Amino acid sequence: MKDKIVLSQGFEIQGADFVRGGEASCQIVEALRDLAFPPEIVRRAGIASYEMEMNMVLYADHGMLSLTVTPDAIMIFADDQGQGIPDIELAMQNGYSTATQEIREMGFGAGMGLSNIKKNSDKMQITSTVGEGTKVHIVIEANGARSNS
Ligand SMILES: Nc1ncnc2c1ncn2[C@@H]1O[C@H](COP(=O)(O)OP(=O)(O)OP(=O)(O)O)[C@@H](O)[C@H]1O
Ligand SMILES: [Mg+2]
Repeated sequence: MKDKIVLSQGFEIQGADFVRGGEASCQIVEALRDLAFPPEIVRRAGIASYEMEMNMVLYADHGMLSLTVTPDAIMIFADDQGQGIPDIELAMQNGYSTATQEIREMGFGAGMGLSNIKKNSDKMQITSTVGEGTKVHIVIEANGARSNS
């Protein structure tokens, strides 16, 4: 029962697509609301998934944002093909960003995304290979928090 998958969804993310960028995380929020998760949990998943999605839009060629929900947890996985991150520890630091002037003018590049993902999740794993891509995996514990489960 614990491992039962309640919902599994995947969204394709296209690098530099600022028109659709943000849509996948919006759909994740809607799906979690429909599943009757408490607003605080939905809010955390929304923030984390938005940052994961926009990092793929900003820094990757393309990728997938996936949502898996079990009775106990919300798992969100970002898997992209792209430039990768040479120094993950450095990238995780508040304020560190390689965003160009153009990206900053669009309102991104504060260097807060990865730390925001960490802050809003219970577990975060990030692996990356330069020239290949990046994987970010988060878990938000939900221990039966759904009001209609
Ligand atoms: N999926 C990714 N692929 C390649 N590099 C990435 C990826 N995600 C993050 N990075 C690198 O890590 C840095 C820090 O990411 P983070 O999300 O914390 O900040 P940001 O995207 O630069 O700014 P913000 O998220 O505040 O708009 C980025 O500037 C980029 O160099
Ligand atoms: Mg970011």
